[in-house]
Amino acid sequence: MTILVSGLSGQLGHALVDHVPAKTIGLVRRSTGTTRLRRRIESRSREIELVEGDITARDWGLDRAALERLAETVTCVVNCAGSTDWQGTAESLQMSNVVGAVYGVGFAARLAEISGRPVPYLQTSTAYVAGSAVGVVPETRLGAGGDRTRYEHFKWMGEQAVLRRAAELGVPLLLARLPALLGDSRTGETLYKNSLYLLSERWNDLPFGLLPAMKNARVDCVPRDTAAKVLIALAEGIATQSLSDVEIVHITNGAQAPALRALVEAARMIDQHAFGKWVRIVAAGRDHVVNVSALGERFGRLSAKWQNTLIGLRYIGLDRSFDRGNLLTALNALGKSAVAPSISLEAAARLTFGLHPGRESIVSPKHRSLVRFGA
Ligand SMILES: NC(=O)c1ccc[n+]([C@@H]2O[C@H](COP(=O)([O-])OP(=O)(O)OC[C@H]3O[C@@H](n4cnc5c(N)ncnc54)[C@H](OP(=O)(O)O)[C@@H]3O)[C@@H](O)[C@H]2O)c1
Repeated sequence: MTILVSGLSGQLGHALVDHVPAKTIGLVRRSTGTTRLRRRIESRSREIELVEGDITARDWGLDRAALERLAETVTCVVNCAGSTDWQGTAESLQMSNVVGAVYGVGFAARLAEISGRPVPYLQTSTAYVAGSAVGVVPETRLGAGGDRTRYEHFKWMGEQAVLRRAAELGVPLLLARLPALLGDSRTGETLYKNSLYLLSERWNDLPFGLLPAMKNARVDCVPRDTAAKVLIALAEGIATQSLSDVEIVHITNGAQAPALRALVEAARMIDQHAFGKWVRIVAAGRDHVVNVSALGERFGRLSAKWQNTLIGLRYIGLDRSFDRGNLLTALNALGKSAVAPSISLEAAARLTFGLHPGRESIVSPKHRSLVRFGA
């Protein structure tokens, strides 16, 4: 079993380096700074060969000789590359998230044609292709519309295009949608800060300290190492043709995703001194949250950071859960139920707000009123 995976230098890729099975091949573009990546691979004593390519080129930029060599061993192609830049231009998002994803299907088809056996394709996507949907978001194809941001729109377009192309070329396909990725569950190490972290970074700047969110808003988030383990299990599953009935999975916490209010309170319980002023969550309707989150994109006069913060509101402020029945069925069939995400409230709060173990000060001797509760 040899997985060929793109995007190893990205957030998810960093975790994959730690967890991929032996004999993995990483596709990196020429411009990727591979020195750090190679050092990371070596420091983990991983057997990962790097090949140069580009997902935005046909056959991911590999020539016939390279394709023939890869076809001898590759049993599954996993695409974790793309643009996650919410401020990216329509053209760059289209190239990376639509064209690159479709070329990935073609690339898998070419490997299959040369090797004479099926080479399945696993495409990563985002749970937020759901746009502004509330309630239970199903693990199915989603329709047009839906108040998507530019990034969500092109990820959704990528899904549609990949589903169509895979059917045309007869490539076995699995679409894996991810929610907000947190850093490593043990170390907190993260490559960059997404919407959830923006909540903690902008904490003191929220106008009037108010955070608008639906009453029962939930925050689905998964540490990147958890996501990587699930992806690998799924890649092995499709490579061995054990998952032929599943088309789309959500690598999420499902109905067990923490509620926003509980997450914020848990953070305060863990380390009340870590926060300047305290924010108040004000109940808002779905349309309010969605409209506020779209303000930056619509009027465009805000800094990129503020625009991202506003967009991020929809990832923490909507009352919805991402169904994961397909995921659980798939992992169960593979005997890998243990890797299903199940983030605890405390872990989510610690990772989101950078409250690492050892920083507990719930009962701080400096806090006179609490001293009596101390040991
Ligand atoms: N991070 C999240 O919170 C999150 C949430 C939901 C879904 N996802 C999904 O998870 C997947 C991985 O996301 P991520 O956060 O790991 O992304 P990321 O950190 O932005 O990394 C993107 C990766 O794609 C590579 N790449 C970009 N364009 C390429 C090209 N033309 N050819 C080859 N490689 C290219 C980048 O390589 P360079 O080093 O060369 O730039 C990098 O390794 C994506 O499908 C994303 O939509 C992520």
